[in-house]
Amino acid sequence: MRLILFLLVLSPQLSPLLRPASARGGERGGNSSGFTGHTYVGRRRLLLEENHLQKLDKLAQGYMSNSELEMEVKSFGQRCANISRIYSIGKSVMGVPLWVIEISDKPGEKEAEPAFKFIGNVHGDEPVGRELLLLLANWLCDNYMKDPLATLIIKNVHLHVLPSMNPDGFSLRRRGNANNIDLNRDFPDQFFPMNDDVDGRQPETKAIMNWLEEIRFTASASLHGGALVANYPWDGTHNQTRNYYGCPDDDTFRFLASIYSRSHHNMSLSEEFKGGITNGASWYPIYGGMQDWNYIYGGCFELTLEISDNKWPTADELPMLWEFNKMSMLNLAASLVKTGVHGRIFSSDCGGPLPAYIAIKEINYTIKASKEFADYHRLLVPGGRYEVVATMPGYRSKSTSILLGNEAAGAVDFILDPEVASVGNQLRCGCDCSCDNMSRHKLLLFWSGPQLELSFIGIFLLMFLCFLLKRRTIFSYFKHRQSIGPRRSSAA
Ligand SMILES: *[C@@H]1O[C@H](CO)[C@@H](O)[C@H](O)[C@H]1NC(C)=O
Ligand SMILES: *[C@@H]1O[C@H](CO)[C@@H](O)[C@H](O)[C@H]1NC(C)=O
Ligand SMILES: [Zn+2]
Repeated sequence: MRLILFLLVLSPQLSPLLRPASARGGERGGNSSGFTGHTYVGRRRLLLEENHLQKLDKLAQGYMSNSELEMEVKSFGQRCANISRIYSIGKSVMGVPLWVIEISDKPGEKEAEPAFKFIGNVHGDEPVGRELLLLLANWLCDNYMKDPLATLIIKNVHLHVLPSMNPDGFSLRRRGNANNIDLNRDFPDQFFPMNDDVDGRQPETKAIMNWLEEIRFTASASLHGGALVANYPWDGTHNQTRNYYGCPDDDTFRFLASIYSRSHHNMSLSEEFKGGITNGASWYPIYGGMQDWNYIYGGCFELTLEISDNKWPTADELPMLWEFNKMSMLNLAASLVKTGVHGRIFSSDCGGPLPAYIAIKEINYTIKASKEFADYHRLLVPGGRYEVVATMPGYRSKSTSILLGNEAAGAVDFILDPEVASVGNQLRCGCDCSCDNMSRHKLLLFWSGPQLELSFIGIFLLMFLCFLLKRRTIFSYFKHRQSIGPRRSSAA
């Protein structure tokens, strides 16, 4: 319905946008995997589709069904309870829970650490990702405190793994969800007013969008099939032409995509894509995709990974595909710790964390530090000099220059000064510090009282309280710096 309305309103300009069957990664795979179809009519087409379904059902042998996937996720949660938490971000159209495995040494706890997400099976007929993600989770669990990379990731990253974003599409053996909507075209688009109606969005899409409100991901990747390439933003162009169209962080994205392709068995040897990476729009533009939306609205650097030419290979190829992609997946998640600039932002008047904005000079993109700890994690290409700028309304901006080494992340903390000094309020303790409100409240109480001496005693007491609180924040600050220490050295 939405589609029809949309076509009516915008049909002449936008019809190429709606080219439905080509995957981000489907064009080529559509042929090589033998899943063409829909071009025949009548009985012949029906037969073709039946054959197609039978073929897919046969191929599904050896793959986890949705209920088996759920069991695998839950038994992982029990087996690896010390480093994982199982939760659901919502349900598919047909009511299948969208299970997520969070992997961390402190699962479910908020920490001043970056978060990474892997999403598999966005397209129902691209099931390799959902298998590989379970293998990844199990490998991390088995190698924690044994393998340095597993330990580094589990200790310093919160890794969230959604094996299947489209369980209905999987059980129907098709690309779209139960409403036959391509989920990788269902997100709000930066260039065209599509998918802007909240009520029209698919539950799977909504679940992802709500997820990003809850968790601040630094980077992510979705796993697809039908080609062998690491795809990065932008996926579309403002005028629908097929052209290289880089986002403000083009260099960083090329770097991240190359981490994946170079760690892969042979992605970087591609003849079709130089280095095994591609800008989405230069491959073929798509609109309403998840990747660009993540970068624009979620502050999250997302890649779209095409991990096998064949969308649905037989299950006996899965162990090999896991071996091909294992180091890529690990190195990509670890890049959150090994590269970029990280730090925290505090206010100078109280020492409390400030959820300020971080930008890099000459890159038109801003990320926000977290509310709880005011930690930020800014991915950047190693080996360059960057001017890091911290801004916060009501505070004076600060900037500092940092030279990033090739093998280590940079650390920059900021302490911002309030713009307006609070004249005449000696007791101001600033920012979110709880003693601020308290002191004002108490002050009113005291000044309204008749005995002046009592007021002075009260003020003295309050000043002492403020002093104690300040000491506490400073103390916890140092405690935190210490806990960050080993991360840096291990990243070096
Ligand atoms: C990568 O290796 C696989 C398995 O050996 C092969 O099928 C595929 O064609 C290779 N791709 C490239 C780009 O070399
Ligand atoms: C920076 O990006 C915003 C969109 O995020 C855009 O509106 C603005 O024009 C850009 N500024 C420059 C200088 O490119
Ligand atoms: Zn896909």
